[in-house]
Amino acid sequence: MKTPTPAIGIDFGTSNSAMAFALEGGLAQSLPLEGTATTMPTALFYNAEDRSTHFGREAVALYLSGVEGRLMRSLKSLLGSSLMQETTAVYDGLVSFQDIVARFLHELATRAEQTLGQRPERVVLGRPVHFVDDDAKRDRQAEDSLRQAARSAGYRDISFQLEPIAAAFDYEQRVTKESVILIVDIGGGTSDFTVVRLGPERMTRADRASDVLATSGVHIGGTDFDQRLNLECVMPLLGFRHHDARGREVPSKVFFELSSWHLINWLYAPKAVRQAQELRSSYADMRLHDRLMTVLEERYGHRIANEVEQAKIESSVNDAPSTIDLSFVETGLCASLTPADMAQQLAELLAKTVASAHECVRRAGLRSNDLDAIYLTGGSSALRPFQQALRRGFAGVQITEGDLFGGVAAGLAYSARAAGVHGRA
Ligand SMILES: Nc1ncnc2c1ncn2[C@@H]1O[C@H](COP(=O)(O)OP(=O)(O)OP(=O)(O)O)[C@@H](O)[C@H]1O
Ligand SMILES: [Mg+2]
Repeated sequence: MKTPTPAIGIDFGTSNSAMAFALEGGLAQSLPLEGTATTMPTALFYNAEDRSTHFGREAVALYLSGVEGRLMRSLKSLLGSSLMQETTAVYDGLVSFQDIVARFLHELATRAEQTLGQRPERVVLGRPVHFVDDDAKRDRQAEDSLRQAARSAGYRDISFQLEPIAAAFDYEQRVTKESVILIVDIGGGTSDFTVVRLGPERMTRADRASDVLATSGVHIGGTDFDQRLNLECVMPLLGFRHHDARGREVPSKVFFELSSWHLINWLYAPKAVRQAQELRSSYADMRLHDRLMTVLEERYGHRIANEVEQAKIESSVNDAPSTIDLSFVETGLCASLTPADMAQQLAELLAKTVASAHECVRRAGLRSNDLDAIYLTGGSSALRPFQQALRRGFAGVQITEGDLFGGVAAGLAYSARAAGVHGRA
């Protein structure tokens, strides 16, 4: 009898995606998605030069190398918004964002098939605690959209698990005694929290609902940090907060959009470019407007966002100033980012994130010193000012850093197995 393909977990992330499966009695195994890498940027590139479609690192690299085409990133941020059904022009016509998400999930299945030998059909998809904050209807629409995209991509048996609960299941493999843990997952688009009771004895129970003491989440993540830093450090060089000779400020909408990963593409439409051209009369220093027009006409928006993101990571890792190279916009142009600037510019967003963590503990009916530990996952949990803010907010609680990029997919694989998988380790 043919061995059934194991049910798999898919972490469809705002920035990165990952897939894993777990056979009976074994640890979760992540699937290679791009060469040997087990995560891949949630990015597509529609190459207009040779009419081909690319994914992941390859998509980002082609875009950055200047190949003509459209880069799609941060697709998850569009789930639940009216933009999902809007179409955008790529080389072979108009596609909706719904189709683009489906195309990405289809590609994940194709890549999984290379390892599994068969296309995966049964899947547990991760979802944040809130796709959309404070709007239950749109939040449901977001999940429905993702389910529909998975269906169009060929998956048959589709269920969802909260991302921080999945991260908890992964962490549980390493827990040696029963503990109450605050799981903190700070990703590209959302910050998700859960307070869970974990332990070796509990791991084998089929129904874990009573071990999940509380969840909370906010729609704030690394792409919001990038946006804020971009607005503060780069956009002023293009005219943000600039005044004309009569003291009137340049309308700021274009700068908010240009610094938001998921809105950048809209600014390249002829109408948006014309509107930006018309802003010229609002400038006193025309050099700044020239830069704005260069960025729109040469489609440098994602490239700038990428530079800002790299500077953020570099400055955080090294705890030292980093440079945002903008010489592709104008010879010699650059901006700098110091750790102190970053901490200050992100303070408000970080405070909201830590407040959501406190809210989670409160909902669980606990106080922070009732926690045995805090477990960190998600790429943005490595951000130094975030960790500092969290330490201040949870003084005395032990903080453990986990598998930042693969933990959620692994936990989703355990969820998939618990839901009934036939594989054997
Ligand atoms: N060392 C680092 N310091 C700070 N931020 C980092 C670091 N490494 C990666 N990041 C940020 O982590 C984010 C990506 O994290 P991750 O892959 O966990 O997100 P995601 O799962 O795609 O998003 P989400 O879970 O919100 O949908 C990006 O915003 C990236 O800039
Ligand atoms: Mg994530």
